[in-house]
Amino acid sequence: MTILTGKARLAGITGWPVAHSRSPRLHGFWLERHGIDGAYVPLPIAPGNFAAAIRGLMWAGFAGVNCTIPHKIAAFEVCDAVEDSARRAGAVNTLVFRDGCIVGSNTDGWGFLANLRAHGVDPGAGPALILGAGGSARAIAAVLLDLGVRVTLANRTPANAERLARELPGLAVIDWDRREDALADHALVVNTTPQGMTGHAALDLGLDRAGPGLTVADIVYVPLETPLLAAARARGLRCVEGLGMLLHQAVPGFHAWFGVEPSVDDALRRFVAADLLPA
Ligand SMILES: NC(=O)c1ccc[n+]([C@@H]2O[C@H](COP(=O)([O-])OP(=O)(O)OC[C@H]3O[C@@H](n4cnc5c(N)ncnc54)[C@H](OP(=O)(O)O)[C@@H]3O)[C@@H](O)[C@H]2O)c1
Repeated sequence: MTILTGKARLAGITGWPVAHSRSPRLHGFWLERHGIDGAYVPLPIAPGNFAAAIRGLMWAGFAGVNCTIPHKIAAFEVCDAVEDSARRAGAVNTLVFRDGCIVGSNTDGWGFLANLRAHGVDPGAGPALILGAGGSARAIAAVLLDLGVRVTLANRTPANAERLARELPGLAVIDWDRREDALADHALVVNTTPQGMTGHAALDLGLDRAGPGLTVADIVYVPLETPLLAAARARGLRCVEGLGMLLHQAVPGFHAWFGVEPSVDDALRRFVAADLLPA
């Protein structure tokens, strides 16, 4: 049992609902590992109460919070300052309260890159193909473009891909039907659709045209090994799973709130993964 003192640092995850979130478990692991006098708590906040609740948390002495669905866009409105990472991603997932000011950022793209590097993959090694055009696709496309990578995107609904391309100049769009042909010209392919997740069909992506140097990344992390990753592994392609992105995206917030830069290692991975297994 953790006993807090009167000087405990406080942070948490805001969402509606928030009961599904793995963030309290993830941050709780680091707090215990580092013996930090602090807590990271679930904060279920209904959409209409978000702005008032955030100001209240700051006034109550919290160091900051994460924001998840449905607050990632509303969070822009409460920020006194917004970092480029959030502007480029079009969403805020981390708020840091500093000297009475609320600073918003987005760590999803950072977490994606850190996870690639942890798997020995250089994100700048060659062109990237992103499948999907939702919130995570935008965050990932933005950080890759910012690294100078040539990024191509394919999405089931072309209009959503075109909208993203208008928001992120430099992003190229191809038809969804051309996604398998495009594999041959890319060093990295990333699934950002929910396909492959437990309860969803597998992603429809044959790998016959993949070159031997292709890295296959999936940001779905339930199950840890998606059908796409299993198929890629069977071909001897390098694979990057989605859990690592979830773990790495939490690092900057923890550092800002609790003053320690935590590491992502196998013990953390096992601890969080144990909570993802079907009962
Ligand atoms: N590892 C991590 O840290 C992490 C972080 C964030 C999200 N995720 C996972 O990433 C996934 C996407 O999240 P998101 O927030 O980006 O979702 P989102 O904003 O809802 O976007 C979903 C995208 O997937 C496409 N899609 C949905 N169903 C499809 C299907 N049957 N076939 C082809 N494309 C389909 C959608 O295409 P349309 O435009 O045609 O609708 C859309 O582009 C989720 O599974 C989530 O759990 C993981």
